[in-house]
Amino acid sequence: MFWLLTLFAYLLGSLSFAIVLSQLSGMPDPRAGGSGNPGATNMLRLAGRRLAIGTLLGDLLKGLLPVTLAAWLGYDVQQQAWIGLAAVLGHLYPIYFRFQGGKGVATAAGVLLGLYAPAAALAAAAWLTVFRLTRTSSLAALIALPLCLPLLAWRQPGSLLPMSVLALLIVWRHRSNLQALLAGRERHF
Ligand code: G3P
Repeated sequence: MFWLLTLFAYLLGSLSFAIVLSQLSGMPDPRAGGSGNPGATNMLRLAGRRLAIGTLLGDLLKGLLPVTLAAWLGYDVQQQAWIGLAAVLGHLYPIYFRFQGGKGVATAAGVLLGLYAPAAALAAAAWLTVFRLTRTSSLAALIALPLCLPLLAWRQPGSLLPMSVLALLIVWRHRSNLQALLAGRERHF
C-alpha cells in the first residue's frame, strides 16, 4: 500500500495546474513566456492574479492530499514525508508533460502543511517577509524552505531526511534563478 500511495502521489503531483488552467482558460502556455516556469509566480506574471491563485492552490493541494491520506492510513511521519516527496517529484518531473515540470515551491508548501502545520506557517511568514522586502519570488522560496528544516528536525525528526532531499531538489530546480540573482538580473514584481 505504501508504494501504491507513493505512485498515486507522483501521478497527482505530475498534474501541472499552471499548464492545465492556462489551457482551460485559453491563456498562453506559461512555459513559453516570462521565466518559462509552469508555476504560480509565472502565472501571476503572464495570466493575472486569479489564475495564479488557482495554480497556487491546486499545486499546494497535490502535496497536501497524499500526505494527509498517508497520515489517515496510519503511516508514520517519515513515510508521510517520502510520499510527499513523490508528489513534489511529480511536479518537478511530470509524467504527463515529458518530465519538464516546475520548481516545486507550492507543492512543497502543501507537503509541509500536511506534515507539520507550524513549519508551513513559518515558511509562509518567511516567504511573505522576504517577498515584501525584495519583490522576488525565487529568493523568498530559497530562504523560506530551508529555514523550516531546523524546526522539523526538532519537532518531526523522522521527516528530516526526506524533507532535506526535497529542499535540495528545490534549490537545484532554482539554479537558473540563483544565477540570475547573483548576476543581479532576477525578475522582480
Ligand atoms: O515558485 C517558483 C519561484 O520560486 C520562481 O519562479 O517564475 O520566478 O522562476 P520564477
